[in-house]
Amino acid sequence: METTDWLVTEAGDCLPCEAPEDDDFPAQPYRLYRFLTEVEDILNEYQDDLARLRAIRPRVRRLLVSSDWLQGEYRDPDPKTGWSVVMLYDEPDFPLTVQMVAWSPGCVSPIHNHGTWGVVAIVGGEEKNTLWRRSPTSQHPDRLERAGDRTFVPGEIVSFLPDAIHCVEPLGDEPTITFNLYGKTDFDRRFEFDAIAHTARKF
Ligand SMILES: [Fe+2]
Repeated sequence: METTDWLVTEAGDCLPCEAPEDDDFPAQPYRLYRFLTEVEDILNEYQDDLARLRAIRPRVRRLLVSSDWLQGEYRDPDPKTGWSVVMLYDEPDFPLTVQMVAWSPGCVSPIHNHGTWGVVAIVGGEEKNTLWRRSPTSQHPDRLERAGDRTFVPGEIVSFLPDAIHCVEPLGDEPTITFNLYGKTDFDRRFEFDAIAHTARKF
């Protein structure tokens, strides 16, 4: 079976993960509120990010398979910035956010990590991820080295550990549309990197 689910680590590895088949899911709709409740239960049950992502990934797949309406819940990218974000769920003191993000071809994100776990499902277009890992020297403690790249297509689900480092770029002519789920950001642990100057800054 072709791999569709992935885990990106802080070492810049992109590891294949087991994924359920679409017809393994029950036929009844899987509502967003139920998905959110189950993810909250998972976060309470597991403190380990690997265990959390293992439990959350199949639920993201089930949500996207079950809820066609979600696939259309994005805004075309802003012509000025090249991207748009529709916040589907963000409640104060609730430990996760759900967004639909659209990116125009030609936009490249800064190199960054998220300071929290994340799950990104590709809904439309193609997204190239360049992966990086820390490679500190005494002179440059925030030095990075490139670990590789991979292009994800609709139907693929990519999960990220909090210190996984990437930059993303749409490929082709169509905007990239993604469903993004993130935990609670630790702002002391989230950075944008400059791979040429070997610097990192919190954002
Ligand atoms: Fe990212």
